[in-house]
Amino acid sequence: MKTQTLLLGQTLRFTGNPLSDPWEETVHIDSDGGVLIEGAQIKAVGRADDLRKTHPQATVQDYGDRLICPGFVDAHVHYPQTAIIASWGKRLIDWLNSYTFPEEMRLSDPAYARDIAGRYLDLTLANGTTTVCSFATIAPTSVDAIFDAAAERGQRIVAGKTCMDRNAPDGLRDTAQSAYDDSKKLIDRWHGKGRATYAITPRFTPTSTPEQLAALGALWTERTDCLMQTHLSEQIDEIAWVQDLVPHARDYLDTYEEHGLVRDRAVFGHAIHLTPREIDRLADSGASVVHCPTSNTFIGSGLFDMAHIAAQQIPIGLATDTGGGSSFSMLRTMAAAYEIGQLRGTPTHAAQLMWLATAGSARSLHLHEKIGTLAEGFEADITVLDLASTPAIKQRSDNAHSIWDQLFATIMMGDDRAISDVWVNGVRRG
Ligand code: GUN
Ligand code: ZN
Repeated sequence: MKTQTLLLGQTLRFTGNPLSDPWEETVHIDSDGGVLIEGAQIKAVGRADDLRKTHPQATVQDYGDRLICPGFVDAHVHYPQTAIIASWGKRLIDWLNSYTFPEEMRLSDPAYARDIAGRYLDLTLANGTTTVCSFATIAPTSVDAIFDAAAERGQRIVAGKTCMDRNAPDGLRDTAQSAYDDSKKLIDRWHGKGRATYAITPRFTPTSTPEQLAALGALWTERTDCLMQTHLSEQIDEIAWVQDLVPHARDYLDTYEEHGLVRDRAVFGHAIHLTPREIDRLADSGASVVHCPTSNTFIGSGLFDMAHIAAQQIPIGLATDTGGGSSFSMLRTMAAAYEIGQLRGTPTHAAQLMWLATAGSARSLHLHEKIGTLAEGFEADITVLDLASTPAIKQRSDNAHSIWDQLFATIMMGDDRAISDVWVNGVRRG
């Protein structure tokens, strides 16, 4: 008999998608709720009293009025940029050249990559994030480092070797052939091993030649159940550069499409400045886009149009985009998504923000049948939020008129102090 633990508190429950249906009908908070964990899985979710009666032998962990949520899922990050987060004053291309590429070069040292991978996962776990989808560097050993570090912590993870064969410095370029060969070896080593998913990872069109994009498109036809992650239409200058590099392309998305990189299981970071054709094509293809709000304000990229993209039924994930993003916290990221919604005149509700940071991100990564929701049969990745974690939040929380009002204060003002406890695959990591 596997050990059973019964977590008691307020519980967050989803019965639909609050971006396409009213949030009141799709997202629920049950006071006096319970989540029964058996081994690595969630065995039952329901009323505390009922679960106590039906499972009297379970060890009880009572969180009082804290909120038991699915672990946060950060759908687009660069773990190698951990040590350069919050670097001042540049926009995308200069920021890459000045801060990112020199730091990514350092991760060619496998010992340094292991150090950063462990540091990164510890920082994100402390922020309640249980799964990330990360770019590594061009070094295959940097991919091993993040998959190893996740396995040591029992975490579900998506990652891939970043491929770049142009417009990057010496020491940070591969070739079309070596990107294909190395990615294939890494897929065979990691994809589906334990809780690992491999994502084929061309960085973006400016740093991948058409030959490299074609090679990775061919690899994806051989390993169809992998993900493919890249960047799309983040800054205006970047889009102009793509147009210069690929003059025959109809638009930025077309530079991926012509190499078979636009389909179900493709995950495009940013997707801010899209043309109507790109939006239609994304909607037809089943590909996902990932909103990275702290990055978009920090690097000065623009305002993602969540309401419009969601209305086209394009799956949307939420992400920090560390270290272009300025925080490891998905609470801070939800706050920034709210602020961008306000600037666009379409404020997002707390229920929608919580869904995006969990089930929505999981769906964008095709992991929505495994993580991101508290329900029977899901993996037991759980984050417990203290809704009065600082004096400033407590006094606001004491004045709240509803649980949603209270939760919204933690979303807007909370940080790692709001993370009361974290469970990964049924193991308490608090
Ligand atoms: N576009 C290509 N590479 C990157 C990156 O590392 N961060 C961000 N924000 N955008 C990118
Ligand atoms: Zn990115």
